[in-house]
Amino acid sequence: MDHFRQLRDEPTGAYSYLIGCGETGRALVIDPVVNQTPLYLSLLGELGLRLEWVLETHLHADHISAADSLRAWTGAQVAVGAHTGIADADRLLHDGDHLRCGSIELEVLATPGHTPGCISFHWCGRLFTGDCLLIGSCGRTDEPGSDAATLYDSVVRRLFAFPDETLVYPAHCINGRRVSSIGEERESNPLFLNVSRDGFASTPIVNGLPDILPIALEANRHCGRLIRA
Ligand SMILES: [Fe+2]
Repeated sequence: MDHFRQLRDEPTGAYSYLIGCGETGRALVIDPVVNQTPLYLSLLGELGLRLEWVLETHLHADHISAADSLRAWTGAQVAVGAHTGIADADRLLHDGDHLRCGSIELEVLATPGHTPGCISFHWCGRLFTGDCLLIGSCGRTDEPGSDAATLYDSVVRRLFAFPDETLVYPAHCINGRRVSSIGEERESNPLFLNVSRDGFASTPIVNGLPDILPIALEANRHCGRLIRA
């Protein structure tokens, strides 16, 4: 049986996901946070998994990625969306690509808007939506490169096209919720319910930029490696 874990970084509320192939022991992690590197390493050891891929849904502004540290510790490769602006990745992912890890196969969906390079992953009836679609919310549209109308299209035309029962696993915790579904979001997400594209685009999603933003963006452009002047 395959392994699946949702992991939360308490200070930032960021969710990361570990998926392991039950047949081969190969594993991948989505959106890891650098502070949680020891947790990921211990969990991999506990489950007898070998990390093969580190995936990023986008260029994060609120935490520093563990991609580079996990690559150094495990020899895993880093894969990111082709339009993220992240350098030093081992593979660039495009819409429609498939990423294999043992018997696990993820489909890549381009879901830009929160950032120009946002991607989501589809695996076994689950969508890993990054900061594109959050539970009852969505990613902010005031970061560098954000485009609200594009985000609306990614959510309403792309993600809401999946069947109701498709599970939604976001990159950020909202109100303590861990998982939602496409049906629930389509029917009750207040940011999109009965909201037109123009209406959505005219009301930017603003939450106050995090203090760590400039440091996080600089580090995450290099897979989370801190660059010293
Ligand atoms: Fe984000």
